[in-house]
Amino acid sequence: MTKNLKNKRIIVANWKMEPETLEKAFEIFNETKKASKSLKNTEVVVCPPSIYLNKLKEETKSNKKISFGVQNIFSEEEGAHTGEISIDMIKNLGVKYVIVGHSERRALGESDDMVSKKINLVLNSKLNPILCIGEKERNDEGDFLLFVSEQIKNSLQKVEKKYLKNLIIAYEPIWAIGKTAQDAMDSRGVHQMSLFIKKVLKDLFDEKIADKVRILYGGSVELSNVEDLIKNGNVDGFLIGHESLNSDKFSEILRIVDKVF
Ligand code: PGA
Repeated sequence: MTKNLKNKRIIVANWKMEPETLEKAFEIFNETKKASKSLKNTEVVVCPPSIYLNKLKEETKSNKKISFGVQNIFSEEEGAHTGEISIDMIKNLGVKYVIVGHSERRALGESDDMVSKKINLVLNSKLNPILCIGEKERNDEGDFLLFVSEQIKNSLQKVEKKYLKNLIIAYEPIWAIGKTAQDAMDSRGVHQMSLFIKKVLKDLFDEKIADKVRILYGGSVELSNVEDLIKNGNVDGFLIGHESLNSDKFSEILRIVDKVF
């Protein structure tokens, strides 16, 4: 079992378009913050809807145990872009992490080129992009491997090597997102994909970079499968959607990931 604990583990809570009220957001966040206090080997990154971000942030200075991320930024640095959020706004707010290329955004038309522009904006600002990749479906011929490697290559066009240590890759097979633990990828599959992604990075850049980039798994990570996934999946952590909104279960997930080696 290979373990990469040179870096802390990382658990990203992707709240997506929830909850409905700021009050509820505070409830979930405060419980998560409480649970994060006892963590020794794990950093939690909470990615709420941007409209709640500043309010939540006012109450909590980022520290080594809990910090904030956004679910998206715009691909241009400036200009007239109604409804969008720029990298400078994020940086000036003191937010460290940016989810880029989530499959739910790609489904709305976000191309690899847009993803690569965003990755460059985030890396050049010395923040940490969480690049989401993953295939829609699999067939016996293994075409998904080519798809995943192309996604990585295209998303990382023109990046400056020196910033790549800040990159986090979240492998999220679309067929496993938003379901239950039974539908998630098993730890063996996750282990294979993490090795494959490292190999793609090694071929694209070099071994040192491949070693530094942290790999997360996402797609129906729940309380019931997280222990097996962290023990045997060969990943540095998880990107968690629906289960991150359930404070009790999410707090328990944090404890498990922090203590299992
Ligand atoms: P899920 O979402 O945990 O609800 O499957 C993960 C994600 O979409 O990032």
